[in-house]
Amino acid sequence: MYPLPPHPHARPRRLRRDSFTRDLVRENTLTAHDFIYPVFVHEGTARRVPVPSMPGVDRLSLDLLLPVAEQCVALGIPVLSLFPAIDPALKTPDGREAFNPEGLIPRVVRALKAEFPELGVLTDVALDPYTSHGQDGLLDAEGHILNDETVDVLTRQALAQAEAGVDIVAPSDMMDGRIGAIRAALEARRLIHTRIMAYSAKYASAFYGPFRDAVGSAANLGRSNKKTYQMDPGNTDEALREVALDIAEGADMVMVKPGMPYLDVLWRVKQEFRLPTFAYQVSGEYAMLKAAAQNGWLDHDAVVLESLLAFKRAGANGVLTYFALDAARLLQNI
Ligand code: PBG
Repeated sequence: MYPLPPHPHARPRRLRRDSFTRDLVRENTLTAHDFIYPVFVHEGTARRVPVPSMPGVDRLSLDLLLPVAEQCVALGIPVLSLFPAIDPALKTPDGREAFNPEGLIPRVVRALKAEFPELGVLTDVALDPYTSHGQDGLLDAEGHILNDETVDVLTRQALAQAEAGVDIVAPSDMMDGRIGAIRAALEARRLIHTRIMAYSAKYASAFYGPFRDAVGSAANLGRSNKKTYQMDPGNTDEALREVALDIAEGADMVMVKPGMPYLDVLWRVKQEFRLPTFAYQVSGEYAMLKAAAQNGWLDHDAVVLESLLAFKRAGANGVLTYFALDAARLLQNI
């Protein structure tokens, strides 16, 4: 045997020897309070339609969503995030159903807040579930996304959601200036408590595929993409500029999306701004872990908890994750 280094011996394994020591020295931990649970809602009653590319995720009518909300409260999950699968007959080029005060999302918000006032509700501000072309904005004659015209519609959408009583609006569209416009409109209506969680560093990612199946925008979008407004996956300095703009415009919280492949971006954003910072473990990340687990290639529960803890280590204050219910239950059994 070769001699070990002189006293004091460096033996990092001492602190890994048993689980009580590992529990004692762990730097980052996961609790149910770290999760925001994204759910898909649609019209009807007793209507549950599975999303084939997201095993275990269903689109639910409001009556079926209420017991899910109740579970979130019981498990300590602080926020439910709503995404609509809109009746195709209501989709138009300008996505005007997005700001209908009697539309699906405002109705679901009112019902959830009436039934579970203690549960936070977050709504997405974006037009893609409502447009006949599946883009997040209005198009000009050549098919380019119009920025400022889109911001007007997004502002009306955010106001409809805020007036329905939503706690947090989360613009996910990546138009320039939308946070400032929405904040000004909220203030003008004295909706001063509505929090804005900005999808600040949102990349043009192929990991959103299953989500687009879930909200029914994939077919409408066809072969076109979102690269003229969502960020280029090669950039991180740009992410910091986007976050700085959103903070200056009035965001309370910021988000990086997707999650696992973008932990470096999350880390830089948190280190630079020290603001409540969230990550979105998106549909494709969920699908990939589920598929591997279903094949018996990965240990489902272990990779779910490990992947979520990694977000905490990288600086996230919380994670939007389709695993929220599973993970919260797993954490209770520890
Ligand atoms: C809407 C929106 C998308 C996601 C959240 N909000 C899709 C997109 O930008 O194309 C993706 C979420 C996921 O993949 O889980 N703009």
